[in-house]
Amino acid sequence: MADLRSLFTRRLDPAWNRGEPSALLPDWNERFAALKGVSPEVAEASEAFVVALAGAADAAAVQAVRNAAVSRENGAFTEALALVPTLSVEEKRVLGRALNMGKGLVESAEKAKREQLERAKEAASAIDVTLPGRRPFTGRPHVLAQVRDELLDLFHGLGFSVYTSPEVELDTYNFGKLNFAPDHPARDAHDTYFVSPDVVMRTHTSPGWVRAMEERQPPLRLVFPGRVYRAEAVDASHMDQFHQIDGLYVGKNVSMADLKATLNTFARAIYRRDVPTRIIPIYFPFVEPGVQMDVQCATCVGTGRYKDESGERRCPVCKGTKWVEVLGAGMVHPNVFRAVGYDPEQVTGFAFGMGLERITMGRHGIHEIRQFLENDVRFLEQF
Ligand code: PHE
Repeated sequence: MADLRSLFTRRLDPAWNRGEPSALLPDWNERFAALKGVSPEVAEASEAFVVALAGAADAAAVQAVRNAAVSRENGAFTEALALVPTLSVEEKRVLGRALNMGKGLVESAEKAKREQLERAKEAASAIDVTLPGRRPFTGRPHVLAQVRDELLDLFHGLGFSVYTSPEVELDTYNFGKLNFAPDHPARDAHDTYFVSPDVVMRTHTSPGWVRAMEERQPPLRLVFPGRVYRAEAVDASHMDQFHQIDGLYVGKNVSMADLKATLNTFARAIYRRDVPTRIIPIYFPFVEPGVQMDVQCATCVGTGRYKDESGERRCPVCKGTKWVEVLGAGMVHPNVFRAVGYDPEQVTGFAFGMGLERITMGRHGIHEIRQFLENDVRFLEQF
């Protein structure tokens, strides 16, 4: 069979990848040696196919080699075996045996390669249950909402319910019924956004007291959270919109002592258990007496001095005063009771109002008030 060699080499494609047969068939060496002992020619031809199968990168490449070697119509082995009956008895015996051994080797290699590809595919698509999960992006309450909710929770525990009132407010509720004199400078267009001559963007949450008192009878214990507006020049510590929570307690014999107890409870819960506080007189039209509550500056711990690498200097947070102002408060002015139809001889009350941004900035060491409204996730996700 002089044309046996060409019958095989015709079927080989030089583009096939080559691989290591013993990596595919663990018994390759023995089987190859045995075949070589019968027919070096057939062994050489078989090796070429097994090398190509070992190098096949995918099922299509396996199929191409398989077709060339053993397909029923025109595989090299099929055609070679078809010639065997034409040979002499001795040639039949040797070549028939060699071709069957070679064909068996190629078929074993094909099977092994298909299994190998299948395993690789499974490994690629397998789920690695030990991988850490991918955390989905979830939102959260804004840091101001978190602090607001903490405060509402605290006041809820002290018996205060929430009352909300409009951001666009009548001038009479924002000012007049709160005992602002008609020429009070806070009414000035400089501080107040006017919607019309009688309507303003509320400059504080205190108009909520008036609405609540006109609607209900004492005793009242309410808190008024919300957004307020002032025509301020915007900088790192001022914005023309911010948030407040007012509180109002009206009843028989509500006193300044009740106010102080409530404010100290607030300061201890929100700042720290033993934070020093002080109350100093200050003017607001709607309270008499009016006070401001300060807490000891947390930055300099009440020393007024601040030390860092560059030396010692005046505390930048309290400006050396040792105290930071946290809220306004006082006993509700009799004129406010009169404006809502309460009898100031029958009831007394205290009120307070605090800025959410200031409390939140102190709590978290935030120095730029504009960050609250910028909606930069890198800022917001820190809280
Ligand atoms: N409404 C005042 C303000 O906006 C704060 C305040 C509330 C003061 C209640 C006294 C009593 O500044």
